[in-house]
Amino acid sequence: MSEIDRCVLQTIVETANDHFFIVGGDGRVLDISPGAEAVYGVPRDELLSSSVQQLQQAGVLKPSITLEVMRTQRPAQLMQVTGTGRRVIAEAYPVFVNGKLERIISRSRDLTDLQLLQDEYALLQKRFSEHLIRSHATPDADEQALDDALDNLQVRSHVMREIALLLKRVASSDANVLMLGESGVGKTAFAKQLHRWSERRGGPFIEVNCAAIPENLFESEMFGYQPGAFSGAARQGKAGLLEQAEGGTLFLDEIGELPLLMQTKLLKVIQDGSLTRLGDTRPRRVDFRLVVATNQDLGKQVEAGNFRLDLYYRLNVIPVTLPPLRDRREDIPGLVEACLKRLNQRYGRQKILGNQVWSTLMGSEWPGNVRELENWLERAWLSSPTDQIEVLAAHPPAQLSPASVQPMSTPSAANPMMEHETLKQYLARLERDTLEQLSDTLPSTYAIARRLGISQSSVVRRLQRYGLNAPKQQSV
Ligand SMILES: Nc1ncnc2c1ncn2[C@@H]1O[C@H](COP(=O)(O)OP(=O)(O)O)[C@@H](O)[C@H]1O
Ligand SMILES: [Mg+2]
Repeated sequence: MSEIDRCVLQTIVETANDHFFIVGGDGRVLDISPGAEAVYGVPRDELLSSSVQQLQQAGVLKPSITLEVMRTQRPAQLMQVTGTGRRVIAEAYPVFVNGKLERIISRSRDLTDLQLLQDEYALLQKRFSEHLIRSHATPDADEQALDDALDNLQVRSHVMREIALLLKRVASSDANVLMLGESGVGKTAFAKQLHRWSERRGGPFIEVNCAAIPENLFESEMFGYQPGAFSGAARQGKAGLLEQAEGGTLFLDEIGELPLLMQTKLLKVIQDGSLTRLGDTRPRRVDFRLVVATNQDLGKQVEAGNFRLDLYYRLNVIPVTLPPLRDRREDIPGLVEACLKRLNQRYGRQKILGNQVWSTLMGSEWPGNVRELENWLERAWLSSPTDQIEVLAAHPPAQLSPASVQPMSTPSAANPMMEHETLKQYLARLERDTLEQLSDTLPSTYAIARRLGISQSSVVRRLQRYGLNAPKQQSV
């Protein structure tokens, strides 16, 4: 390495916000960045004359991520509590030369302030739910105002009222919100409500389904590009979705499907409050409120190495879990009435539900939650010959528990080749039907790609070719 390169490297290490440890293949600490002293509470000289084995034994590194990399020979990421009680997130990478582990570079970032914010929020949430319990006997003004404030959303169950009140309270802050829950429970609907309740209601609500963008287009779609950034780029350049959310809310749905590289870039935008378009060098300031949603267990995704822990921490400031409909059946009557009213208006007839239908609806499992209930009602409304809907025999809603998974019935069994059809037409029809069926049952284009053994961008292209929607669970 030339002297210049050495100076460049030194400047990077010394000026980074992160703390670096450079460790030899045997565990000896070779170099550290200046800030590490303060975070780990050990003088620089002492750190430099130790091995990571010794530092772990002395409780300075709890635990040592370098040892983890030495053991597994693979990059690792974990949370540490330092001797001074600071919480840091550490990442470490092995450096192999001719197949031999020569160095381990670890990088840690202090998350204590973020943690304090979360603790503060947890306390707030606790006080808030205590307040709700106290006020349950005599509903306060907030409670009464809730129904007026909710635009079209039905919340009768205690748990949903609590969630709606919480969202209303935090709407005016700029804190990131993480919406969790099965598909169809209302994550998107409540994200929109949050936006309407916020000070940003006059700004845009930009919805991005992370599972529906082909991986190779992600960066240009999200971050935008400068003129001439790549072949085929629009001549005048383009603002990305993040910039389009300026002054409003950016809603990232299916955040668990965000590719790792994009996770790193998104994290940087959150930290810096600015982004750089593809092919540009100048960062631009951005100002949006971030709301994300997923039906995955993000904690598990972090463990599996598919989701960055530090991004997870950033997003998880206000987690809101919407329970499945089967756990809050009190909400069903309100939802059914509102939906029936909408259908009656849309189709200009006054239909009502027979008594038996009501009891079946109340007792069904609804694995697809509110979305499935709405779809079922619309089908029943349309297929009912009289104004009293009684069509359960034809289309019973699922009574199954979600655990009992049905094998996929292949479209080919139900679709014999037609007489006039060519092989090409027949195969295209099968392909279309298969894709349609899978987008009804699988949560994302990535899941469909895995199921079919083709790439995700190929799934997106085929869906577009046949004019099909990406998985229903992702659309509004
Ligand atoms: N509490 C609610 N009141 C009225 N409609 C709801 C409610 N929750 C969900 N919906 C409706 O159910 C459908 C599915 O909700 P959505 O927000 O898209 O679910 P998710 O994003 O969790 O998959 C949408 O049509 C939505 O408007
Ligand atoms: Mg949604």
